[in-house]
Order: sequence, then C-alpha cells, then structure tokens
Amino acid sequence: MTSASISEGKSLFTPVSLGDIELANRVVMAPLTRMRSGPSGVPGDLVIEHYRQRASLGLIVTEGVYPSHESQAFVGQPGIVTDEQMRGWRRVAEAVHAQGGRIVMQIVHAGRVTHPDVNGGRRILAPSAIAISDEGHTEKGKQPYPVPQALTAAEARAVLEDFVAASRRAIEAGMDGVEIHAANGYLLHEFLAPASNRRTDRYGGTPTNRARFALEVVTAVATAIGAGRVGLRISPERNIKDVLERDRDEVLATYGQLLDHLRPLGLAYRRRGVQRLPVLPGEPA
Ligand SMILES: Cc1cc2nc3c(=O)[nH]c(=O)nc-3n(C[C@H](O)[C@H](O)[C@H](O)COP(=O)(O)O)c2cc1C
Repeated sequence: MTSASISEGKSLFTPVSLGDIELANRVVMAPLTRMRSGPSGVPGDLVIEHYRQRASLGLIVTEGVYPSHESQAFVGQPGIVTDEQMRGWRRVAEAVHAQGGRIVMQIVHAGRVTHPDVNGGRRILAPSAIAISDEGHTEKGKQPYPVPQALTAAEARAVLEDFVAASRRAIEAGMDGVEIHAANGYLLHEFLAPASNRRTDRYGGTPTNRARFALEVVTAVATAIGAGRVGLRISPERNIKDVLERDRDEVLATYGQLLDHLRPLGLAYRRRGVQRLPVLPGEPA
C-alpha cells in the first residue's frame, strides 16, 4: 500500500488501479519461477491450475517468461515465442480472469545466466564477455556458466525487438500487462551494473549509458502496448550472480537516471502523489 492509502485508512481488500489495470484488492503475488513447462516451454494444465488457485489475489505476476529461445534461463521455463506457447498462456489468462483475477506476464532475458544445455545450444549473450564465477543447473546437472558473447549494438537492438514482440504476444494472449525484469542478475540488470558491463559504447562507461538499454527496452514496450500496462522490476544492490553494485554513488546515479527518464512515461508501476513513505515506529524520522 502507498502511504496515501494507509493514511486514508484503506484496507488491503479494497480495489485499486495500477495504471490501466483495475485490481479487486491490493495483494500482489511476486513472480516465482516454477519450471513446470517441459521442453516445449508451453504452460499446460499444471501451470493453469497453479495460477487459477491464486486468482483471488489482486494481481498475479507470472514467473519469468523468455522472449526468445536463446534467452531461456531455466530447464522447463515457459516462453512466449511460439504460437503454442501463446495458446498456453491464453488458457492461463482465461482461467485467472474467470475467477475475477488479474495477471501480468514477467518477461526476462537470461543474459549470461544460462548455458547451451539450457537454451538448446544457442548463443549466450551479455553486455560484456565476462562469465559468472559459479555453476548453473542444466539438463546435464550443474555446470560452470560459460563466457558470454558481448552484444553488438545491432544485436542489442534485436533483443529489444524480442522484448517488444513478446509483450505484444502477451497482450494477444489476454494478459493484463507485462512486467519487464531488470532485476536479480539477468540481462537488463547486467547492463545496469559496472561489474558486468565494461562497455565503452553508448551502453556503458557512465551511469547514463548503463541505464540506457533498460530505458530503451521499457520505452519501446510502453510505446507498443501502452505505458499503463507496463511495469519494471529492479533490484539495486542485490549483488547477485556477480552483478555487483557496491558503489552507492554509482547506484544512485544509475538508477536515478533510469527512474527520472521513466517517470514521464506513466508506467503502470509508479508512485502517485506520495512525497515520502511514512516513518514506522522506532525508525529515525
Ligand atoms: C523459487 C523462486 C523463484 C523465483 N522466481 C522469480 C522470477 O521468476 N522472477 C523474479 O523476478 N523473481 C523471482 N523470485 C524472487 C521472488 O519474486 C522474491 O523477490 C523473493 O522470493 C524475495 O521475496 P521476499 O522478499 O518476500 O522474501 C523467485 C524466488 C524464488 C524463491
């Protein structure tokens, strides 16, 4: 709840609008990867039942869904690439809507958090050719993460188009909106952090440049499907999967740039008229 709604005494169980999305209550389910969609990446009966059971929440954010085959992060993860995958998601959306719920699709590009034994032997892409110094789960057990290929500017543009196409398909499948995943160490977060982004072009080297790719992706998606149906997930200083953000000034500058440029878009996820969060008992004012 926002501080405004708290001070107005509004209950968790009253309706609220999130951009263009009308929620029956203010309880939102966080995205949770379940890996139940098999090798085809098509959400089937088990996935439909999972979301149907949770449709009394105000909003469900789906598990992270891949926008292109090469961006798949997990074995059994669902995609929004093929017509069959889209039909699977349509069944999910219909099941949730039939219960009065709302559902947005989280779209995630794995970046370097994948392996050829996960994404079907395809390329592994990242802002810079730096591997995560850890192992990931694959079809053949745990294996070291490979050194990714650094995206060229033209390839970055193609990835952006994949996000846009996936968002259009999500809406066509009946989703109420999309959440772009720029958190938790995946591709868009890799661009934001100096440890994983050593680029010297317009996408790296300064806070403004590191914020640019996430901003371009969200802006393009908002233009395609309407800003009121788009949210963005970020996790500054999460320090996960070698996406390290340890310089507070850098973090504030980078995310400040991102948020300052997103604000005029009017995304679904935004603060409205709230100057600051309320001080909780025991916290310094
Ligand atoms: C099994 C599991 C799967 C998750 N999958 C996703 C995901 O697909 N996308 C995402 O943004 N976060 C994912 N998360 C992170 C959660 O959304 C959430 O941020 C995290 O569990 C911390 O929540 P908490 O602060 O309430 O403990 C996952 C977490 C868990 C435990």
